[in-house]
Amino acid sequence: MFHNIAILTGGGDAPGLNSVIRAAVKTAKLQYGATVWGIPDGFEGLVQHSEPWRLDLPDVAGLLYRGGTILGTSNRGNPFKYPVEINGKMIYEDKSKDLLECLEELKVDALIVIGGDGSLTIAHELHKMGAPMIGVPKTIDNDLSATEVTFGFDTAITTATEALDKLHTTAESHHRAMVLELMGRDAGWIALESGIAGGADVILIPEIPFSWDAIFKLIDGRRKRGRKFSIIVVAEGAVPAGGQRVVIETADETHGLERLGGIGHLVGREISNNLKMETRVTVLGHIQRGGKPSTFDRLLATRFGVEAVHMVVRGQFGHMVALRNAKIIGVPLEEAVGRQKLVDPDGQLVKTAEAIGICVGR
Ligand code: F6P
Repeated sequence: MFHNIAILTGGGDAPGLNSVIRAAVKTAKLQYGATVWGIPDGFEGLVQHSEPWRLDLPDVAGLLYRGGTILGTSNRGNPFKYPVEINGKMIYEDKSKDLLECLEELKVDALIVIGGDGSLTIAHELHKMGAPMIGVPKTIDNDLSATEVTFGFDTAITTATEALDKLHTTAESHHRAMVLELMGRDAGWIALESGIAGGADVILIPEIPFSWDAIFKLIDGRRKRGRKFSIIVVAEGAVPAGGQRVVIETADETHGLERLGGIGHLVGREISNNLKMETRVTVLGHIQRGGKPSTFDRLLATRFGVEAVHMVVRGQFGHMVALRNAKIIGVPLEEAVGRQKLVDPDGQLVKTAEAIGICVGR
């Protein structure tokens, strides 16, 4: 049977997306002689009937180690709530039927969606409407419960750990408190793992509302022992006990999520005011999402891309590839979406941090 496969990348980018695309195109071509179409800019490309891009072997040469996604992506084009401006007013329309029509016109027998929770939820809804969908999970936040790890996470924590190494030397030279704000809106995996690996003194994550006093006590205790600098890692979604998340932009219908940011500066100000200590704040931001994927992420992304194509050929639609017990398997999208994997405040990783004297804000 001749296979015609479409592939798109949705949501925020993550290092390793291009490695998935490369692996999927190579497997489709070399193993099955299939044709692969790249859809530009995520679901937006299907709603807009954008010209798909035929992906052949030369198109994916050199992609393994390239960050970002050659297809483009968007985290603002939910086809079920698509923004349309009418007479200067924004209204939201369900464009899912147009999208399915576009897929039919393309005559594809599968759509591989590489995305996070948002894109995989859309894929699941489209599958329920009859579309042949296969999911590939990605997120630097590593907060999808159906897979043990997502690609992008290893690169992000490596970047964050390198930033901590650099902050250490300057913090020590100037006897300062250095605050590093990292990504992680609901899950604190990036902050916790890079914080432990990078030798942080305080790690604040969304799962553990923090006490100001606990932070001040730890930093002051270090000062009294002659350790005149401290490194504080804060996930963007961390909150003081009884307080609120710090938001740059409130959620709108198009995006659905509020844009977080600013908790690092709040923590920096409080440390400076309460401990009379010179403090500096670094926000690592999208640097965590950019650049070459790590070896681990290239490998995982390649394994995901290969298996996604095998799943197309087996007709295992409505499923997503996942890593479980060192094997790549298919799990139903239904099981995969909407269930976040959060840090257990009493789990082994948090206890490990606390055992070596790191304050997690309690
Ligand atoms: O989902 C990954 C993530 O990096 C979150 O941690 C962060 O809140 C979000 O993306 C930021 O996305 P953007 O700025 O692209 O909208």
